[in-house]
Amino acid sequence: MLTIPNKLLLGSATAATQIEGGDFNSNWYHWSLAGKIANNESSIVAADHYNRYPEDIQIMSELNQEIYRMSIEWSRIEPVKGVWSQEGIDHYKDEMTMLLKNGIQPLVTLHHFSCPEWLQKEGAWVNPNTVERFLIFAEKVVLELGDLVSEYCTINEPNVFVTDTYMDGKYPPGHKDDIKSYFKASKHLILAHLKAYKLIHRLRADHKFTGVTKVGIAHHLAHFEVDSKNPLTHLSKKLMDFSFHDLFTKGMIEGKLSMPLGVGYPEGQGRFCDFIGVNYYSRHIIKSTMNPAMLFGEVTVDESLPESRKNDLGWEIYPKGLSIILKQLYKDYPIPIYITENGIPDANDTKRAQFIYEHLKELVSLINDGVDIRRYYHWSLLDNLEWNDGYGPRFGLVEVNYNTLKRTIRKSGKFYGELIKHRNISEEMKQNYNIKDVSYE
Ligand code: GAL
Repeated sequence: MLTIPNKLLLGSATAATQIEGGDFNSNWYHWSLAGKIANNESSIVAADHYNRYPEDIQIMSELNQEIYRMSIEWSRIEPVKGVWSQEGIDHYKDEMTMLLKNGIQPLVTLHHFSCPEWLQKEGAWVNPNTVERFLIFAEKVVLELGDLVSEYCTINEPNVFVTDTYMDGKYPPGHKDDIKSYFKASKHLILAHLKAYKLIHRLRADHKFTGVTKVGIAHHLAHFEVDSKNPLTHLSKKLMDFSFHDLFTKGMIEGKLSMPLGVGYPEGQGRFCDFIGVNYYSRHIIKSTMNPAMLFGEVTVDESLPESRKNDLGWEIYPKGLSIILKQLYKDYPIPIYITENGIPDANDTKRAQFIYEHLKELVSLINDGVDIRRYYHWSLLDNLEWNDGYGPRFGLVEVNYNTLKRTIRKSGKFYGELIKHRNISEEMKQNYNIKDVSYE
């Protein structure tokens, strides 16, 4: 039997662009129009969560979820530069109110990969003025949501965002191997977080909003390994750890800019996270330094892995990597940890329950060893738009039929709901959901 400690709250995570639909002003809608999403799919319908949020909150409640991480779509609040949409603001106020009525505590992400198209046209994150525009948006949201939200995640996965936007050409405006923009945007994202951290604390204190203010980031931490003794491969891993992980960890937690972004502490030296959000999915093998963008090595998956150890996108299922990462992180920064994302694309729903069990097992054992882990947000509540990969990958605890938009709770969703209710996974549950204790080396 696996008992979940009371301090670890359980719920799920989503992002606006991936589930809401109906927004003509976001850069991702324009990216869809340009045919950049798999199978020419579009963000315009998604799971229609914008209209169906009462039903979706009802489902969360049925699944006994205690917490929910969601993002606010900037283009719904500020569709035109400097013009606020009262409709957009009221929508989110209503959604938060409904969550709270159902006993579900929201964690709100301010930037989850998308922005208004007007900002994209101004250069988005390579433009230094975007830092100021982001703060204006953040201030509006914090003041409008007031007492309804006390926990904010400023920026989601700055490392994945700049990699997919400026190196891999997958996110708008789709640059390839543009290292200059990679670093420029990274610097602006770090500055935006540091300034927003201070701003949100100041605003909530000045206005005496209720609830303990907590501000952090959601950092994507992958587990990297090398496949050979080749010293170049080891160098590549070091460079990857630096450019993908440390640049942002040091920048956003300590306030330290590293070269080539800059030097010193532009907003002072300190702790700029009340919690560290960790998004964890997989282990990656660094193969060689032959990639022209050598800094980023060549990231692959062990080809000899059996199907049972891979998800629908071919990523390795490796729960142990989560422990390895968190142990090191907590040693470096003894700050509360939230698992802001962890999940699996699994259309047949044959691996998800086992995946949840294995990852929770790692977390429980870390908590028992004194690592301060407080939240687990499963990615994701619903099937959703997996960015440029479109609607193919199925990450939901709840299946969405994209023809009818009907929601159906998957068997793994029921498993998750039951485990939250009982705060343990009994032998009987393991049998019912076909869960085994296997070792992932
Ligand atoms: C993360 C991202 C999410 C979701 C997830 C699954 O990188 O923050 O929006 O797409 O990956 O791949």
